[in-house]
Amino acid sequence: MKIECTIDGKALSLSVNSNKPLSLILIEDVGNRSIISHCKGKACGNCIVLLNDEAVLSCLIPAFRLRDATVKTFESYQKTRLYRDIQRAYKATGNTPCPNCYASKTLIIESILQEATNNRGNKTLGRANVSRHISNEDESALDKQAIVGELSLNTCQCMDMAEMLQIVEIALTYRRRKRVRGN
Ligand code: FES
Ligand code: FES
Repeated sequence: MKIECTIDGKALSLSVNSNKPLSLILIEDVGNRSIISHCKGKACGNCIVLLNDEAVLSCLIPAFRLRDATVKTFESYQKTRLYRDIQRAYKATGNTPCPNCYASKTLIIESILQEATNNRGNKTLGRANVSRHISNEDESALDKQAIVGELSLNTCQCMDMAEMLQIVEIALTYRRRKRVRGN
């Protein structure tokens, strides 16, 4: 089937089988080098991309779900100024994911920040609603349980969940400051 979508800022028209997983499309049809797809949906959580700004396991997304969608991989995300908030949070906490998990964990955190700052508008896509009161800018409104659910997409256990939550909170502070300053 023909699928029109945008991947890493490029409008593409793909001719692929409707069930071909996004991870394979990225590797075989798009030539993306940042995607890691080891286990094909069983556990690793290292194949994360942003699909319409929500973190998803790309090995579980069939091609037909890409129609008119926007996909961002770490390849393009790392060139954005948004990335800086998460980089700074890693540095501030002294905790950085290993190279294997780095891209996926970073994109999951970005997905949480997008929802917490309401950048996804009403597109809460079923799994997590990280802000109890979406218009409330108070950090205390964050729903930690939903965030833990989102972070659990990557199954590595070597980073403590408390450490991950701290990274999210610090990155969110940077993001909100940026929004107040309008840059
Ligand atoms: S490749 Fe392991 S969860 Fe997708
Ligand atoms: S951060 Fe990569 S295995 Fe835990």
